[in-house]
Amino acid sequence: MEKIVSLCKRRGFVFQSSEIYGGLNGCWDYGPLGTELKRNLKDFWWRRMVRERDDVVGMDGSILMNRQVWIASGHEATFSDPMVDCRTCKARLRADQLPEKNGRKRCSVCGGFDLTEPRAFNLMFKTYVGATEDESALTYLRPETAQAIFVQFKNVLEVSRKKLPFGIAQIGKAFRNEINPRNFTFRSREFEQMELEYFCRPEQGAELLEYWLQERLKFYADIGISSELLHVHKIPAEECAHYSKGTYDIEFAFPFGIQELEGVAYRTDYDLKQHQNVSGKPLDYFDEETKQRFIPHVVEPSAGVDRTTLALICGAYAEEEVTDEKGKVETRTVLRFHPRVAPIKCGVFPLLKNNEKLVQKAREIVELLRAQMMVFYDESGAIGRRYRRQDEAGTPFGVTVDFDTIGENGPANEETVTIRERDSMKQQRIAISELKSYLSDKIA
Ligand code: GAP
Repeated sequence: MEKIVSLCKRRGFVFQSSEIYGGLNGCWDYGPLGTELKRNLKDFWWRRMVRERDDVVGMDGSILMNRQVWIASGHEATFSDPMVDCRTCKARLRADQLPEKNGRKRCSVCGGFDLTEPRAFNLMFKTYVGATEDESALTYLRPETAQAIFVQFKNVLEVSRKKLPFGIAQIGKAFRNEINPRNFTFRSREFEQMELEYFCRPEQGAELLEYWLQERLKFYADIGISSELLHVHKIPAEECAHYSKGTYDIEFAFPFGIQELEGVAYRTDYDLKQHQNVSGKPLDYFDEETKQRFIPHVVEPSAGVDRTTLALICGAYAEEEVTDEKGKVETRTVLRFHPRVAPIKCGVFPLLKNNEKLVQKAREIVELLRAQMMVFYDESGAIGRRYRRQDEAGTPFGVTVDFDTIGENGPANEETVTIRERDSMKQQRIAISELKSYLSDKIA
């Protein structure tokens, strides 16, 4: 994990938030490569979950919502973790994550046993809306994106004219004042979620829970996460939330342990019912076939953007021994991202930077490709070094413009380039006229 964290900083995937002021615990900034990776992940989720389906529409809710939302959802009363204080070192710790010695819980910082009784600590960040800082102006930064979907259910239903079953999807920021943010970006205080609320008839819920679990596993395969690193954990009925009729956790084998990436939960009609009761506004559905009015049930696949980004990086990281053209063995660090999510799709390299024709042709290729994909032009250093730099950034393809390309070795290979594939390191020649469609197919 240390190597991955250091690579993330060195190559500009992730930085500590407010670093020059000592940081802010649980908050992270994404650098140029991390931002592209995260954006590609979100775009592909949106494509799979919304654009490629007839039965899902999108929305984009506000982060600040009326406090009543959080009262109705139960978050104000119960969205808490048990917390203890260590009287010896004053650390504040999650009571359910303490190490034990001889059956006794101890402080994970100093090892002491002098701990307070656990008490509930609400994870929502409080804020005040408007000029007065009193109870009447109090609300919270949303701890999940889902509630905006529930409270807009009726509006979206009306404008989209969808029939059950159908879903509403959203990607956005969520905030939780985690007691112990840890494991790099895995448990943060500010993070992003990708959530789908899929509304259905009560009798469809159990089957749709299984359906969505399978769909989500397919999604992870399609972004290049190996099934060997994924685990499905069925939450035992007694550990599920009281309103849930079944929950699966999709987990990933991080270097720090097997941890949750996504929850797929059958939440019944709990949320819509709560909002209908507290707001007094009907949130039901009229079935034109059966002429029945009822509150739909919902199945919710809820994934973390930051956790999945971290899983992509951890799953892609590899070190391998390679022999260079002079016979020297060296260690190559490579991020084997699926081309679909890779931050940069193609590096473009003129063989020599002081040859005007090579540089000009390489620049033309950049212009040719950049409307379709993220490309990176690099003319500095030996070509092998340039390949290595892109291997470490996870760039799946490298295009080199050489003397054949500009016709200096005869007409046979004029207007062709070599294309190097990151994982196999194999190179082949390809006509420049075919380059765009060749690469576009690979990254689709
Ligand atoms: N609407 C349901 C919901 O929010 P959750 O299991 O609390 O369920 C869903 O959160 C997903 O959000 C998690 O599986 C995880 O990927 C992500 N997530 C939750 N808390 C997080 C945190 N503190 N840091 C990063 N990601 C988090």
